Amino acid sequence: MDFRKWTCCSCCLVVAALCLLTGRGGLGRSFSQDVVWIWSGAVTTHSVVVKAKLQPGIGRAKLRVNPTEEPEAVFEEPGDGYSEADPNGVVVFSVTGLVPNTEYRYVIETSGDTGQPGRFHNFADGPMSSRIGFASCATTGSNHRTFATLRDLKPLLCIHMGDFHYEDIERNDPSLFRSAYDRVLTSPRQGGFYRSTPIAYVWDDHDFGPNDADGTSPSKRAALRSYQQCVPHYPLSPVDGEVRTIQQAFTVGRVRFLLTDSRAERVSEGKPDGPQKTMLGKQQLEWLRRELRAVRERYPLVVWVNGVPWITKSQPGSGHGWEPYNYERTVIADMIKEFGLVDRLLMLSGDGHMVAIDDGTNSNYASDRAPHERAFPVIHAAPLDRYPRIKGGPYSHGAFAPGRWLPFLKAKQFGLMDIEEDGRRIRVELSCRDSEGNILKGLVLRMECDLDGCRVIE
Ligand SMILES: [Fe+2]
Repeated sequence: MDFRKWTCCSCCLVVAALCLLTGRGGLGRSFSQDVVWIWSGAVTTHSVVVKAKLQPGIGRAKLRVNPTEEPEAVFEEPGDGYSEADPNGVVVFSVTGLVPNTEYRYVIETSGDTGQPGRFHNFADGPMSSRIGFASCATTGSNHRTFATLRDLKPLLCIHMGDFHYEDIERNDPSLFRSAYDRVLTSPRQGGFYRSTPIAYVWDDHDFGPNDADGTSPSKRAALRSYQQCVPHYPLSPVDGEVRTIQQAFTVGRVRFLLTDSRAERVSEGKPDGPQKTMLGKQQLEWLRRELRAVRERYPLVVWVNGVPWITKSQPGSGHGWEPYNYERTVIADMIKEFGLVDRLLMLSGDGHMVAIDDGTNSNYASDRAPHERAFPVIHAAPLDRYPRIKGGPYSHGAFAPGRWLPFLKAKQFGLMDIEEDGRRIRVELSCRDSEGNILKGLVLRMECDLDGCRVIE
């Protein structure tokens, strides 16, 4: 081997080693000749949405779907011919007519190639026991084994609470957001996870715009446009024909999930608190009111996925989470109380790069609360792969961010929600996990719910 070849090989080895050490890799790498990425979401009892990005020049594709246990029972979407990709290579498949509570395998087919298969399990038409993963915050394109751990735990779906990437995009250019989706979804472990697990995703600041982004973000239109283009999502709620926020709702068994958007209509944090200062925006707040009002009659449990810290009593003046939006927080807390949902609600959150559990001891922000009056449990689960940081509190079961005194080392953790339904009662176990899937000591909460309400059980 001559010196130049030796140097070249050495460089390659060094780069490969750096990729392994930093947990990065796979940037721009696709999993098949014709397909850049593919993932699923918007799962219901009878339907799913699959979105894929094709390589330049491919132009069209079809989706082949079959129940995992019936490899022969393949059906195609579209039934005839192929679906055309949009000018950016994104192709959308809306699959309906599925048999409830069935595991399906899907594969995309172009004229010359078949990509790696994905899978999803759709929801039961009635009570359903399930496992749901929830988390937020991963360095753009992270390839950490946390994602393989999550995949192996086989959650029914992954609720991603934001900071899907950290590109902090300030320019109103959808192609920058599309590149960010490409970098995440072509990372081998993340891409593999999202192929095997449907997504329910709402953004936080770093994946909506720049750090601490709000409704004035210059890249807001591009964020909204590329989200609708690339992410398989549940139905959104346009106002006068225009999507301004990405809140969405869905039901698994008898549990209702509400995901809110805490960025796109947020008034700047520095404005004085009061009736004009909003985190959700007027229309989204009305949406939340309608959804919560409807819950009482229909569901024993509602899970509000609220991206940012709700409890901020231990850090007055920190500006974290809902603290600068206390007026609206009280409006919502009063709403929850008025609808009789204090003992029917569970909150999942991200943003703080920590796991934390509060059993309701510290989450009461209703205007007429008595001293020590409890409210609903709050569970934080983050980061998937990002620097540790504790926000808000206090939390009855504590907060944990590994290596928080060595903040240059990334933390990797997530949450699991295991639901057991027998038609009468719902038992829920919420657990905070490390990157290997181990339960973090003391960070487990169990609840039991029926139509009379939920109780925290130990
Ligand atoms: Fe984050």
